[in-house]
Amino acid sequence: MEKRLLGKAGLEVSALGLGCMGYGEAADRGAMISLIRGAAERGVTFFDTAEAYGPFRNEEVVGEALEPFRGEVVIATKFGWDIDPETGVHKGGVNSRPAQIKRAVEGMLKRLRVDCIDLLYQHRVDPDVPMEDVAGTVRDLIREGKARHFGLSEAGVGSIRRAHAVQPVSALQSEYSLWTRDPEQDVIPLLEELGIGFVPFSPLGKGFLTGKIDENTKFDSSDFRNRVPRFSEDARRANQLLVDRLREIADRKGASSAQIALAWLLARKPWIVPIPGTRKLERLDENLGALSLRLEEGEIEEISQASSSFKVEGDRYPEEFMKLSGR
Ligand SMILES: NC(=O)c1ccc[n+]([C@@H]2O[C@H](COP(=O)([O-])OP(=O)(O)OC[C@H]3O[C@@H](n4cnc5c(N)ncnc54)[C@H](OP(=O)(O)O)[C@@H]3O)[C@@H](O)[C@H]2O)c1
Repeated sequence: MEKRLLGKAGLEVSALGLGCMGYGEAADRGAMISLIRGAAERGVTFFDTAEAYGPFRNEEVVGEALEPFRGEVVIATKFGWDIDPETGVHKGGVNSRPAQIKRAVEGMLKRLRVDCIDLLYQHRVDPDVPMEDVAGTVRDLIREGKARHFGLSEAGVGSIRRAHAVQPVSALQSEYSLWTRDPEQDVIPLLEELGIGFVPFSPLGKGFLTGKIDENTKFDSSDFRNRVPRFSEDARRANQLLVDRLREIADRKGASSAQIALAWLLARKPWIVPIPGTRKLERLDENLGALSLRLEEGEIEEISQASSSFKVEGDRYPEEFMKLSGR
């Protein structure tokens, strides 16, 4: 499996990771454990979870699944929502106060069944806590041997610079895909300048870019996509044109739309590592197939053009979540 380096401190991971979050009803524990182990057996060495997923069920499942692979895989998790570290109750909003981070990390170590967290991200920037204090807390945790690498998620350029000045950031995880190209404006150039790796989340557009979702798709009531403007029925109908265009290109290449979406991201920079999520082994195999799909310069340009000339209908998050990004 191709490997890539994130940041300058030697964090090496498989070129595609596995997003373990999942949408809607939590997957059956046993099935999720087999899927995660199946990914590790196929050579995936990068697994993404967060304290907030579940809370804390997803970290527990990831910890159990990867226990036999300890030392061979990189587990990334995230702190930063205002979650009671004991009960898992999400009080709403963000909380990156140093005491909260330290308590969160103690819980993560237990749930993930590790002595040290390979990659510790702040999930969203907390405007009430100076970034220097957040980075300083993570720096202390790294010195104590409780974390190895520092990451940020959906942070704006000012926050990235401030954090990196205190504790070098190995990776930024933000939404980036053929229908969310915002990071190209100023975030990706900054990451290049500072030597920070990029981990695109929702690289398949939360499933939409694969062509398996249309205006008639019904999500279960707990599925977050019910609240995403880009997934309203009208938006899905309008956005279908982009998916149709991607499918044409995919058909010509003898590939799937998911593979085109991932191969395009992989071709952008050698320090980009997408983390598509799936609960199905056959889709995991399909997604990993993107690593052997070689796109010619002209094809990359054609895909970029198809995406940039399309006006996507609907925001990528509900309004209250949009406000938490880019700070
Ligand atoms: N930092 C953050 O704030 C943040 C936010 C969102 C996500 N994330 C992370 O990023 C990971 C991935 O993002 P995501 O789950 O939002 O979106 P995604 O990877 O773009 O898409 C996942 C969806 O696509 C479907 N899918 C996957 N492969 C497919 C294929 N080959 N064909 C058809 N459908 C396919 C999955 O369904 P099935 O499961 O049914 O296969 C799932 O519903 C998450 O697991 C999480 O770890 C982080």
